[in-house]
Amino acid sequence: MTKIAVFGANGHIGSRIVREALDRGHETVAVVRDPAKFVAEEHGKLTVTTGDVLSPESVAAVAKSADVVVSAVGGGDGPGHLATIRPAAESLVAGLRSLGAAGRTAPLLIFVGGAGSLRTPGGKRVWDTTGLPEAVLQIMHAHGDALDFLRTVDDVRWTNLSPAATIEAGTRTGTYRVGKDDLVVDDEGNSRISMEDYAVALLDEAEHPRHVGERFTVGD
Ligand SMILES: NC(=O)c1ccc[n+]([C@@H]2O[C@H](COP(=O)([O-])OP(=O)(O)OC[C@H]3O[C@@H](n4cnc5c(N)ncnc54)[C@H](OP(=O)(O)O)[C@@H]3O)[C@@H](O)[C@H]2O)c1
Repeated sequence: MTKIAVFGANGHIGSRIVREALDRGHETVAVVRDPAKFVAEEHGKLTVTTGDVLSPESVAAVAKSADVVVSAVGGGDGPGHLATIRPAAESLVAGLRSLGAAGRTAPLLIFVGGAGSLRTPGGKRVWDTTGLPEAVLQIMHAHGDALDFLRTVDDVRWTNLSPAATIEAGTRTGTYRVGKDDLVVDDEGNSRISMEDYAVALLDEAEHPRHVGERFTVGD
């Protein structure tokens, strides 16, 4: 059993990660900004705590007893993502780094990323697709900037898990295909994953880390 702390636990993706972690029997800490707004059934292995991903002190307080720290935070619109996503990555690394400096092996950070920087089958990046709205481009580049930052980090264990191009609420099949920097697509060229199967892939990585220090992606 692993202790997993999830920032963004009340979000669309974060709530699926919390559910999957609990279903696997992990001690799970839902980190939210306002516990009054947290919607989840009570569960013996679930703890709800207040935290701000943008505060390294808050990250360290949450992470000090965790084996894995997940960031599933979002920033809402494009400017919100630009103000949140790379700063969140920097704050998480600073918070985890402070634990390592204290002599403890810092937990593994698994960062929910974006699909924009993945290569399409044609060789372009997703964010080079013509016609994308400015707000979507801002969200994609916010995640690209966070990934660029994480790739400079070699003293904290991190993994960035990029969803498929489309990630939606759906069903848990328990299966997925894995890519590294290339979009996972089906025979028709579609790239999709349910939030439930994305959570399966993330928990598989939490239990058996195979992509420490790198980004990977999953699709159905
Ligand atoms: N295809 C793709 O590449 C793709 C598609 C979808 C999503 N994503 C990415 O996946 C991530 C999660 O998406 P989502 O749809 O699940 O987002 P969401 O439903 O908007 O949830 C985001 C969560 O982040 C939390 N949060 C924001 N700022 C925070 C802070 N400073 N400290 C702690 N928590 C904070 C929010 O907390 P509150 O409840 O307190 O507001 C919220 O629960 C996003 O970064 C998004 O860009 C990528």
